[in-house]
Amino acid sequence: MAFSVLHLLALYLIVQPFCVHAAQTANISLGLSLTASDNSLSWQSPSGEFAFGFRRIGDQDLFLLAIWFDKIPEKTLVWYANGDNPAPKGSKVELTKDGNFRLTGPRKEEIWPQPVISGVAYAAMLDSGNFVLANQNSAPLWQSFKDHTDTILPTQVLEIGEKLSSRKTASNYSKGKFQLQFKPAGTLELYPIALPTEFEYKAYYKSNTSDAADKLNSGYQLVFNESGHINVVLRNGNIVTLTNKTVSPSRDYYYRATLDFDGLFTLYGYPKKGAGHPGPLCGLSQKTFASPSIQLERRAAGHVDITVTADLMQTQGQFVNAFLAFLL
Ligand SMILES: *[C@@H]1O[C@H](CO)[C@@H](O)[C@H](O)[C@H]1NC(C)=O
Ligand SMILES: *[C@@H]1O[C@H](CO)[C@@H](O)[C@H](O)[C@H]1NC(C)=O
Ligand SMILES: *[C@@H]1O[C@H](CO)[C@@H](O)[C@H](O)[C@H]1NC(C)=O
Ligand SMILES: *[C@@H]1O[C@H](CO)[C@@H](O)[C@H](O)[C@H]1NC(C)=O
Ligand SMILES: *[C@@H]1O[C@H](CO)[C@@H](O)[C@H](O)[C@H]1NC(C)=O
Repeated sequence: MAFSVLHLLALYLIVQPFCVHAAQTANISLGLSLTASDNSLSWQSPSGEFAFGFRRIGDQDLFLLAIWFDKIPEKTLVWYANGDNPAPKGSKVELTKDGNFRLTGPRKEEIWPQPVISGVAYAAMLDSGNFVLANQNSAPLWQSFKDHTDTILPTQVLEIGEKLSSRKTASNYSKGKFQLQFKPAGTLELYPIALPTEFEYKAYYKSNTSDAADKLNSGYQLVFNESGHINVVLRNGNIVTLTNKTVSPSRDYYYRATLDFDGLFTLYGYPKKGAGHPGPLCGLSQKTFASPSIQLERRAAGHVDITVTADLMQTQGQFVNAFLAFLL
């Protein structure tokens, strides 16, 4: 036991300088562009773990401008620009010589963003998975961590009022039926919406992090921290963790938390190369959200899927369940 702790400590000390080094970003400079095609290039983070560029949707000649985990075979997306408006083959994302950042179609039609982001000095794909457009003082003008889709990554924060939207189906990235919002009262809430009005129906999950009698005891930020925990930070500085048990060190796993198309907010872990023992999560606490039940399901290739189901609540005449699942 002592050996393994020392061993881990030694590993940590060896790995640490590389992490610090890898945090330095190679800038993407003015005049560079990427074109949507079957063998598009991409812009990688210094560690090579994240990439920014075009991903084809299914077997169609349509592409998403996206960020994905580049070192895993699935290339799982963690952000996408144009889910409601996929880009045809030949579309181009460019950082123009005069500092505009835009995605245009093959006939030069504007696809994203609206309005175009201008005054950009350089762009950077960071090792955190955040893609940043910066001005000449290196201040961010835009960052993917503040333009939420359906996924958050470790180190990402949701402020009051910020929300994630599910996609329509596993392979259709149009806006779907569910949202997650860090509400002004300080609670994390999951609820279905009407489309296209986005009218919010009754929440089917609400974190217990609002205190009407004492505002300081209410939630202030939702933080997905570097160890893979999802926490609500209260105004008084206290932390309420929604992921109730030790997850494996994030240096061994890629983590993401996604509001899945079926309305489940799910924490996923994927072993980095060589790290792959799924054991630790088997000790997961029986309580993640309020009075949950746990299903443990073994998957192919040593993957373990632990599903923690919260109270069932009635929404619009049908039962919807909220849970956090852990996939290794
Ligand atoms: C990126 O570009 C900015 C502006 O030119 C510069 O200040 C910064 O040092 C560059 N960073 C790296 C890592 O090259
Ligand atoms: C996704 O679903 C929407 C709404 O049903 C549909 O209009 C759109 O064509 C679909 N997108 C793709 C890429 O299939
Ligand atoms: C909510 O949290 C408070 C403490 O912050 C606790 O006293 C209360 O029992 C919790 N309620 C539920 C339903 O878990
Ligand atoms: C992340 O949150 C968990 C639960 O609150 C905490 O135990 C852990 O120390 C935090 N990790 C970091 C790096 O802050
Ligand atoms: C986390 O687990 C501990 C011990 O099992 C329990 O007392 C606590 O209420 C749980 N917290 C949540 C948020 O479920």
